[in-house]
Amino acid sequence: MSTAAAHTHFGERTVPLDEKQGLVDDVFHKVADRYDLMNDLMSFGLHRVWKDILVAKLRPPRHRPFRHLDVAGGTGDVAFRVAAAGGEATRATVVDVNPDMLRVGAARAQKRREGARIRFLEGNAEALPLPDAAFDGYTIAFGIRNVPRMERALAEAYRVLKRGGRFLCLEFSRVDVPIVDAIVAAYCDAAIPALGKAVTGDGPAYRYLVESIRKFPPPDRFADMVREAGFSRAEFTRLTGGVVAIHSGWKL
Ligand SMILES: C[S@@+](CC[C@H](N)C(=O)[O-])C[C@H]1O[C@@H](n2cnc3c(N)ncnc32)[C@H](O)[C@@H]1O
Repeated sequence: MSTAAAHTHFGERTVPLDEKQGLVDDVFHKVADRYDLMNDLMSFGLHRVWKDILVAKLRPPRHRPFRHLDVAGGTGDVAFRVAAAGGEATRATVVDVNPDMLRVGAARAQKRREGARIRFLEGNAEALPLPDAAFDGYTIAFGIRNVPRMERALAEAYRVLKRGGRFLCLEFSRVDVPIVDAIVAAYCDAAIPALGKAVTGDGPAYRYLVESIRKFPPPDRFADMVREAGFSRAEFTRLTGGVVAIHSGWKL
């Protein structure tokens, strides 16, 4: 008989832990080709601002080598920004479990002539195919809530960072003001699945995304998880009234 501990959330459903990844992969397989367009439409372009702020916090140096890892990096949005913000010697690795998302990202990198500085690698956040202490920075944007065992992903982030390396996570959070929360909730419930259906042909995929946002722990609880993974100075900054938050920690 399975135990409660062996189950997790897939949106509003409770599913066996081992099944969640396959369900998540189906979602991103279906939406990969229209993922970037959907991001712009759903967030009114705000995801670009949030990602800019994430990379501004990372501040890759312009005159020193910097090795960056962007996990659940999908179509490369964060990695492109890190490459642009850093110097010539900045290198970014995008890891994602879904080859369809990586294919879109690699095509974008080729178009931007960033093939030499950004590599795309298939891998799971819970068991990164990368050596210990290899990276100066680690980011995960709108990715960790999709990972079935978040604590494993955090432990892996800690393992692959060098001492002095920084962990940053951009994720949906909790809106504090009840009226704003109600408006955001109504928008998420009504508009996002409808928009998803119109643009990608898949409403349920976007219903999952909305539900998964609700299941993600509140920011103070997630900050505890970052701390429990070994990171120092774990803290978070809310953006856009708490629609999203950036979590930060250092491997010291
Ligand atoms: C909402 S997208 C975010 C993509 C990108 N970071 C961005 O902000 O545009 C979530 C990504 O997480 C990836 N993902 C889900 N589970 C994963 C896992 N266990 N390991 C690595 N990537 C995973 C999905 O394939 C998808 O590309």
